[in-house]
Amino acid sequence: MKRDEGPVLFLDSGIGGLPYLRHFRERNPDEDLVYAADRRNFPYGSKDKDTLTELLSSLLLQLIRISHPKLAVLACNTASVSALESLRKAFPSLPFVGTVPAVKPAVLNSRTGLAGVLGTERTIADEYIQALAKKINPACRVMGAAAPELVEFVEHVMDGASKAERLDVIRPYVEKFRVAGADSIVLGCTHFLFLLDEFRELAGKDMTVYDSISGVASRAESLLSRQGLRRGGGPHEKVPRGEGPHGKGLEEGPDGGPGEEGPGKKVFYGKTARCFLTGGEEPGAAWEKRAEAFGLSVVLLDRVCGEAL
Ligand code: DGL
Repeated sequence: MKRDEGPVLFLDSGIGGLPYLRHFRERNPDEDLVYAADRRNFPYGSKDKDTLTELLSSLLLQLIRISHPKLAVLACNTASVSALESLRKAFPSLPFVGTVPAVKPAVLNSRTGLAGVLGTERTIADEYIQALAKKINPACRVMGAAAPELVEFVEHVMDGASKAERLDVIRPYVEKFRVAGADSIVLGCTHFLFLLDEFRELAGKDMTVYDSISGVASRAESLLSRQGLRRGGGPHEKVPRGEGPHGKGLEEGPDGGPGEEGPGKKVFYGKTARCFLTGGEEPGAAWEKRAEAFGLSVVLLDRVCGEAL
């Protein structure tokens, strides 16, 4: 297999990286994609740096063996602030893109001199955020808040929750930042992207909500281009079923259903993708539904590898 033929791998402890994968796919419909959800070790946020580095190294070994990725996107802030540097050293021939809280625009644009960052316990405890903020704008302080129960809510409860329940679960955090005088909320955990509309609604006009979804996609694209590994690369193209360069892979739109109606015929996005789940138990209805919504087919990693991780 040539190096540029491999997929782009997105990795998280659960569903958090899915919006990142979808955003990248919308911009890069010709790329093969693989998603890995390390549900056996969910949540990452309560684990220490060394444990995470070990878990991620052994997971990556398995994923590299079975899917030969040309680029790995750690679609997880906790994994990135904890283990990115070690993983780059351990896998020197695999380019990595990390996901880190969008602290830079928040501290650069702050009017009140206080930026709010919401993440997991591990991400908030890491020195990364404060060090970055100090380097970019020493006049702006950063207030970090850890929200492990919000991660749990998104991973396991959100699907059955009403809009009012979603707003209720984030309200205390938004208010905490507002009362302290922060004029921004940086979504420093990929899971929180699922609640972006709710965060924006409660933040109102006086607070700006920042996320890293476009930054991560741009970084992945530029790394692929620089290394001559990018496929397509044009603007978002949709191709009619069976007429694109990838033949029978043309099945579904980014939301799992058919792509948008074109003039006179249905058009379909170019690629399907696989979603590897760790953990021995069956995916269950929730994962099947999620995977379908993101146009992914679920595969149990242990089953493919023939051994437990
Ligand atoms: N989605 C991950 C992040 O961006 C972490 C969630 C977890 O604690 O597993 O930090």
